[in-house]
Amino acid sequence: MTLHQPAVYITTPIYYINDRPHIGHLYTSVMADILARYYRMTGAEVVLATGTDEHGAKVAQAAQAKNQTPQMYVDDMVVHFQQLVEKANVQFDDFIRTTQERHHRCATALWDKLVKSNAIYKGHYAGWYAVRDEAYYDESDLIDTPQGRCAPTGAPVEWLQEDCYFFKLSEWQQPLIEYYRHNPDVIGPQHRMNEVVSFIERGLHDFAVSRTHVSWGIPVPNCPDQVMYVWIDALANYLTVLGYPDEESQKFQKFWPNCLHLLGKDILRFHAIYWPALLMAVGLPLPKRLFAHGWWMNEGQKMSKSIGNVIDPFMLIDTYGVDPVRYFLARHVRFGHDGDFQVRLVEQTYDSELVNGIGNLAHRVLTFVQSQYHGVVPCMHPDLVDDATAAILMWGHKNMQRMGNCMANQDIFGYVDTLMQGVATANGYISDQAPWRLLKQTDSESARGKADNVVSVLLVFLRDLATYIWPVMPQTAEKLWGMLGFTTPLSQWAQPGGGLMAEALDQKTMATESWLRQTLDVGMCLPVPAPLFPKRVVDETLNPR
Ligand code: MSP
Repeated sequence: MTLHQPAVYITTPIYYINDRPHIGHLYTSVMADILARYYRMTGAEVVLATGTDEHGAKVAQAAQAKNQTPQMYVDDMVVHFQQLVEKANVQFDDFIRTTQERHHRCATALWDKLVKSNAIYKGHYAGWYAVRDEAYYDESDLIDTPQGRCAPTGAPVEWLQEDCYFFKLSEWQQPLIEYYRHNPDVIGPQHRMNEVVSFIERGLHDFAVSRTHVSWGIPVPNCPDQVMYVWIDALANYLTVLGYPDEESQKFQKFWPNCLHLLGKDILRFHAIYWPALLMAVGLPLPKRLFAHGWWMNEGQKMSKSIGNVIDPFMLIDTYGVDPVRYFLARHVRFGHDGDFQVRLVEQTYDSELVNGIGNLAHRVLTFVQSQYHGVVPCMHPDLVDDATAAILMWGHKNMQRMGNCMANQDIFGYVDTLMQGVATANGYISDQAPWRLLKQTDSESARGKADNVVSVLLVFLRDLATYIWPVMPQTAEKLWGMLGFTTPLSQWAQPGGGLMAEALDQKTMATESWLRQTLDVGMCLPVPAPLFPKRVVDETLNPR
């Protein structure tokens, strides 16, 4: 993706609804939201879509276990997923459910098009199926044979035999290899591209795209005893959101060519092989970028219901607050790598980076303005600006491109890391300059002027910090923004065309930055600050170290 996107379509996978949401669901949604907010801030038009995958054998089984009809079951369960995105402050534009009529229409139209393109044929399937993964496996994938599990995920498999439809995936082996050869940046991180290409090179087989023994799904057109394979149904959601089959609509034309799919590494095969092949078969452009993120473990262990160590995202947010959780997820591992969730690390990150890093910087500067300047923003004295002061003043401007490049590559960790290096530099700068000491030199005009400069540039830095951190911690950013005396919320700048950084990115000159319209006015009186991050109360009896 490039920095100057006029329109961006960002998707999360749609989540299976057979259980309550877990940290994996929270993770992708928050990362997608961070990217979406960033692009909004640059003035791009964004569609951020998330939702639920509500059909298939797995959901039907879960409904049966609860003695409910599948429809009743999904209507109950979807509420948890909707609550989670709200709670995590994910600013989504569409929440798609595959049981919606619009999706039914889209998946059916896609199927019809596949039939018309001669991409589907009727055949007989005999092989291994894992309901838990809603995936077919080859004999070579199995362990514990004969009645076994599949090696990649350990899910139990069953022998299936049915008459069904097949998609001619084998025909797309060469076109896919060619496609990835000519578009080496489509899949991120880079090593995932190599994995996908070598998988394709090992040979692609046609695969079953309908099921006879499952009734909870979208019926195959003209074949009421079969439903579409849940993955065909699910992948089509990305088109439903943009109004397919109306390919000519402005929405479709604008957003589909700028599509970024975020997904976990376990479902890359479906997105990087099945999906592009299906799209090629119906003559649609392929997604611009697929990014596969890693998995979270819990204290070094795989999370599973049977072990009872699945992290409840609602509890996590209730305990630490929404912004600290969003920050931790973005900050703990480089996006694309696996992460290990440890309570100790969440707390350490909160204390050292939020309370003592960002919170402390804001507190030092803003309380100093109150105590020494009666809350009034001092003026700059250009003749007294030294190199260290100029560096802080220009920090936001100098790092704009670098941070933008991080986001263009979905390097959310790199973005936050760059910002935190700035915070460390600014905290070091205030200690080195010691403006409280400068103010004590009451007989020196230049000492007073230098102190004014230190305060002024740190206020500018805080303004930049509030802006940049908004995609990651929107509530904290707004709070800081308000404490700098701005009355128009940051979120109002994140509008198509009016992006806070839109002009700045284009013009690359400080003087024309639209965000400088939001300058700190000299003489303006700042409100009394409040701590951005409350110190944690550590109850040693509950939390022995
Ligand atoms: N319904 C399919 C996706 C269809 S998209 C067209 C599905 N759903 S899922 O609920 O099982 O998984 C959704 C996402 O959660 C996947 O991207 C998966 O990688 C992610 N995660 C599940 N457990 C996870 C962790 N422990 N850690 C990080 N993400 C994980 O697959």
